[in-house]
Amino acid sequence: MSNYHIKHFEEYFQVYRKSINDPIAFWEEIAEEHFSWRKTWDNVLSWDFSKPEVKWFDGAQLNITENCIDRHLRNRGDKTAIIFEPNDPSEPAEHITYKQLHERVCKFANVLHDKGIKKGDRVCIYLPMIPELAISVLACARIGAIHSVVFAGFSSTALSTRIQDCDAKMVITADGGFRGAKTIDLKGIVDDALRDCPTVKSVLVAKRINSNIHMEPGRDEWLKPLLDDSYKDYTAEVMDAEDPLFILYTSGSTGKPKGMMHTTAGYMVYTAYTFKNVFQYREDDVYWCTADIGWITGHSYIIYGPLANGATTVMYEGVPSHPNYGRFWEIVQKHKVNQFYTAPTAIRALAKQGTEHLEKYDLSSLKVLGSVGEPINEEAWHWYNDNVGRKKCPIVDTWWQTETGGIMITPIPFSTPTKPTYATLPFIGIQPTLMNDEGEEITDNQVNGKLCIKFPWPSMARTIWGDHKRYKDTYFSAFENMYFTGDGAIRDEVGYYRITGRVDDVIIVSGHNLGTAPIEDAINEHPAVVESAVVGFPHDIKGNALYGFITLKETGETRDHENLRNEINMVITEHIGAIAKLDKVQFTEGLPKTRSGKIMRRILRKIASKDTDNLGDISTLLNPEVVASIKDNAV
Ligand code: WTA
Repeated sequence: MSNYHIKHFEEYFQVYRKSINDPIAFWEEIAEEHFSWRKTWDNVLSWDFSKPEVKWFDGAQLNITENCIDRHLRNRGDKTAIIFEPNDPSEPAEHITYKQLHERVCKFANVLHDKGIKKGDRVCIYLPMIPELAISVLACARIGAIHSVVFAGFSSTALSTRIQDCDAKMVITADGGFRGAKTIDLKGIVDDALRDCPTVKSVLVAKRINSNIHMEPGRDEWLKPLLDDSYKDYTAEVMDAEDPLFILYTSGSTGKPKGMMHTTAGYMVYTAYTFKNVFQYREDDVYWCTADIGWITGHSYIIYGPLANGATTVMYEGVPSHPNYGRFWEIVQKHKVNQFYTAPTAIRALAKQGTEHLEKYDLSSLKVLGSVGEPINEEAWHWYNDNVGRKKCPIVDTWWQTETGGIMITPIPFSTPTKPTYATLPFIGIQPTLMNDEGEEITDNQVNGKLCIKFPWPSMARTIWGDHKRYKDTYFSAFENMYFTGDGAIRDEVGYYRITGRVDDVIIVSGHNLGTAPIEDAINEHPAVVESAVVGFPHDIKGNALYGFITLKETGETRDHENLRNEINMVITEHIGAIAKLDKVQFTEGLPKTRSGKIMRRILRKIASKDTDNLGDISTLLNPEVVASIKDNAV
């Protein structure tokens, strides 16, 4: 039996038990047998959740790109590493072999080096889903620079906040990007962002849409001529196991975004191991994850996990609906995709179109279907299972987070019996538990609790960049000696977990995490606004959508409310991005507050969800009278 590749349900239990009973021996064996190290570790694991401090494979030396690229050159040099499928179906796909990837990453690494980027420097990557995105990520890792990819849907303000937070020295971007029928002016957004980013010394620009853009002399350079002139080999920087690999920002319930910092060895081992098992990847398979590399799913399961296994991974530039809703299925047929990993919001949007598009394509290559990003509702699960998988492909509902680096709770296909809406069982090495508000572990079934993890796993984030205290306060203070996820969950009689949703002020809209506080801060910037509260409400396609309760300075505000709504959404788009726009806006006379002045969001959530039969006790409110009027005027 190989612990690296689990093939039966009994095997899952055996390996799981091993991984819990002796985690050190377990992870040591996985690390030793399946990766290439410049030097092995002195210590497999040291940890203290009270600090918190966690180190995996301390003392080891490696470079993750040697594991993701170089070691495959001998046997898989001509195998396709990345298939790039462009936005426009008439543009040919690009197949990049491991050899070619090696050369392109090395050339890019030389460019970074020539521009003065050194080990430990931060490089911000703001690119569309084109090969340069994966290549620049790997080039940073090759020279030991810390990449910070920012999703290309974020606004210039959001981009500059992230650049400032990590003091990036360089930005890698493109003249623009194609997304469905739209083009996005990425370089213009970067130019705006860089007005307040003095640490950025250079900007490298990939050409994608051939637009006429401004190039700032002395700062901006086209990437292609630099790459053409650079040498095709680059000796990988030797990194320590715990050297930072990347920073990726995620929304918190309050304050600015949190720069989750991931380190090298543990992240590599865990993403590779989960990829192999959760997708049951076999040598000649073609795997496709539809996420954007701007999110953790893209980092771990488009780039690092697949490439560490020598897999063929598809990168798609566009959206599911362009040029029509058959696009995903056309890609599955064209590249004979075997494993398909997407988000419930995409499944719901596709399901809404019926099965007409699906029927035009041959989906018989599919073996495993994945879901990630938010709870998958029963209807979407069945549609996916019946129509995409034709009841033959197990669905892996994978629960995890930016903070966890890799998949934490998931079925193992062909092993774990699936159950709609349940992410099922912990992955190997993961020790979840549910806690009640008294700080006790819940042992009963079907009781909602707060999902925590009791023991470290290799790919956990090590800190929030520049703010270790916030890391501790957010994740390690709610319950002693545990990592608190921020999610609620229940467990059934066989031990399967069902994630019930966030228990904090983070709202997941179309699979994207949005903190309410930054959206409210943006709204409050509008001159007509006194204060605001944003809550989520259920939405057919997006899972949740945003409802803003907004109090205006002058109740008799003379301007047309429709205009004001649009203006407020414009302010949100400027500060965060279009993904954070409000679906519903209600102008209120005031917001329900506790005596200590805190907005009672519980009541607003109920009103937004039209669940107003029982609003709970409002007698303790400072201003109970506003509730009736808010309820009567709900939109
Ligand atoms: C939610 C994405 C239910 C959850 C990898 C988590 C899920 C947050 C699932 C992290 C799932 C993710 N079922 N909920 N299968 N997967 N979530 O950081 O609330 O973008 O805390 O990482 O998404 O989102 P993030």
